[in-house]
Formats: sequence, structure tokens, C-alpha cells
Amino acid sequence: MSFHRNVAALRGRVPLAVAAAVALMLVFLPGADGAPAQPPQTVPKSVVRAADDALPTVTVVATGGTMAGRSDTPTSFQRYRAGTLLMEDMLAEVPNLDEVANVNSLQFGNKGSGGYTIAELYDLSLAVDNALKTSDGVVVTTGTDTMEEIGYFLDLTVQSPKPVVITGAMRPWTVIGSDAQANLFNAIVTAASGKTAWFGTVLMLNDEIHAVRDVTKTSSYRMDTFQTPEFGILGYVDDLKVRIMRMPARALRVFETRGRVVTTANALRNWRTPFDLTTIEKAELPRVEIFYNAQEAGGEAIDAWAAAGVEGIVTAGTGAGGISGAASQARNRAVQAGVMFASTTRTGSGSVYGGSGAVFPADSLNAPHARLLLMMALAFNDGVDEVRADFVEWASLQADITSALPSLQTS
Ligand code: SIN
Repeated sequence: MSFHRNVAALRGRVPLAVAAAVALMLVFLPGADGAPAQPPQTVPKSVVRAADDALPTVTVVATGGTMAGRSDTPTSFQRYRAGTLLMEDMLAEVPNLDEVANVNSLQFGNKGSGGYTIAELYDLSLAVDNALKTSDGVVVTTGTDTMEEIGYFLDLTVQSPKPVVITGAMRPWTVIGSDAQANLFNAIVTAASGKTAWFGTVLMLNDEIHAVRDVTKTSSYRMDTFQTPEFGILGYVDDLKVRIMRMPARALRVFETRGRVVTTANALRNWRTPFDLTTIEKAELPRVEIFYNAQEAGGEAIDAWAAAGVEGIVTAGTGAGGISGAASQARNRAVQAGVMFASTTRTGSGSVYGGSGAVFPADSLNAPHARLLLMMALAFNDGVDEVRADFVEWASLQADITSALPSLQTS
């Protein structure tokens, strides 16, 4: 299919929305590295381009990372300053965007992914939902180091089912052979296509689309670093073709009838998480830490975290979630002190089941993902039973759509 026929296929798929600027003005600029988020001091810079009524509107919410990196030389692939270039300037260098979408940008911040606080991610999530009030889709650019965490935070908290696509780059913008421009372009193509609506937040890098819940960074330098070990990719972007080969459980839940007909309201009820950040203060998001188990690992870290007021601890255990005797004893002490635990495996794939009381199984979530889910379950609930119920439901996210399928008669 030609470039223009593909563009025509994108056109008209999603109704145009404009006037993103007014909504975006309400968003906060995050604080400095490591510092607690401050009340808004500065209005973030948003850029709204002239609108073509035939095209969908995509807002790029930029946070920095390698994609916005300036290299020492055109060949210094690993010597660069991340979070330097402005999205407005980067978008101006990407060709043919005006044939894909009306693209606006919001410079939310400009630093490495690991520099963002949880309080800033709270602001980022509200900024994304705000942008989706007037845009057909949002692209979030971040560094790749904690992209799976930032993306899953959005997946758990963004209330709109419109497409949210997170992307970044393994090579800075200014080197030869950078993946930054192509990743930015393909993420916008993905969001503009509307094909990942209801999927929750997806990650697009290296032409591949992943469910952010399931994806993990597997290499410190390679451009195919993001992999989804258990379930594989959802689809890919080839030229302007967004090819979706499977739906994540999050999207399949839209078709669960639960005795009702599938209307937009019922679909939203099935799809939305209970973690609506507009109903809590950012200070209510509790501290949750990760304990990495190893041969004869000590339990002192667990004791210290409990004493420091950490409310949840995720264990990255061996095999099916095992932890050492000392860690297990420390966990028992911490549970007595009111700390709740989630069990994951350090193997890189597979599930953890079982657990009782204040020790919850994280199913197929990896430790960083389980940490964010435990944080949400703790913030939005009181008491072990309620926290466990929310945690287990969203950790073992599955869909049963048999009642929505035509029945098959045996002749
Ligand atoms: C970062 O995560 O901000 C640095 C690394 C990257 O963007 O790939």
C-alpha cells in the first residue's frame, strides 16, 4: 500500500479534537531531580499547531530521556546528555507528520526517566488524562531505563480508554543511525491510528508494540531492548501500517458481558481500574520497596524498611517466589508491624501464585510492576482483605469473553 493510501486510512478514523492548549495549561511542571513535587510555579510549555480537520489530534507529552539527548559527537552513541532537546524542536525536524496527525506537544519535564519522583508521575498521569480530553491519542516520551514503570503507572491510573503510547530511544537524537526520530514518528502513527484504544498504555519502540504491563527492558544498549517474555508483542508498525495481531487482557475485558449488554458505559466499567488519582492526594501514595532474594540473603533490609515506615515490600524471589530463611523471618516480623507483601519471581518470566494473609501473589507481574500495583492497592484501600482483593484482581488480569461469543451447537 502506498504512503498516501495509508495516510488516507488513518484519516477520519478518529474525530478531530482541538483546543488542547487550554486544558494543558492546567498541568504542573515537575520539580527538580529527586526533590518532592512542588505546587505549580511555571506553566508547562505547550505547542498547538494549526489543525487539519481531517486528521486525528495527537499530543506528545515529553519528559526527556535519551530520545531528547544531545551527543558529544555524531558518533558518540553512549556519550550524551539525556533530557536536553525540547520536543517542540524535535517535532519540527520529523518529516511528514502533517500527513499523519495534528500534533501538539507538552514539555512536561526534561530529564532522565530515573529522576522522576512518584509524586511527579501522579502529575504526569493527570496531564495525560487532561490531554486526552481534547486529543484523540497521547504519546508520552521518556527515558527507557524506567519506561516500563512510568508506563505501568499510567496504565494503572489514566482514566481515558483513548490510546496512550509510551516511547523513547536507545540512541540520542543527534547521532547517526539514531532510533529516536523513527520511534517518535511510529509512536505518533500508532496513537493516531486509534488501534490501541482500550488497550491501556502500550509501549512502542523498535517498531514493536507491547502491553506495558508485560514488557521489560532486557539490554542496557541494544535497540531491541524491550521484550515481553511470556506473551510476545501485540503488533508492529510497518511504514504507516499499524498491525495489531492480538489484544491484551485489559482490552478483552471490554467484551466481558457479566450479564449485561456491551455498551460504552459497561465497557468502561469493566475496563477502568479503581485507581482514579483525582480522588486522592499525591502524598497518599505510600512507599513500597523491592527486596531481591539471593543465596542466604539477610533480612536486615526488610527490618529497616519496616522501621522506616515503608508500607509495602515486593519480594523478587527465586524460582516460583522463594526467599531465604532470614528474609522469611523478617517478612513475618514486618507483617506483624502492618507491612504488606507481594511475591514475584526474579527469573524474568513465569508466575507466582499462593501466599496468604498480607502476602499476595503477583502472578505474572515482574517486581517493578508489582511494586506500582501494590502502591495503588495500598493507597486506595484500608485493611489487608481490601488491599489483597484489588491487588490480586489487577495482578492476575485476565478476561473471560466466552459469554460474548456465539454459542457453538454440537450436532
Ligand atoms: C533514561 O532512562 O532517561 C536514560 C536512558 C534512556 O533514555 O534510554
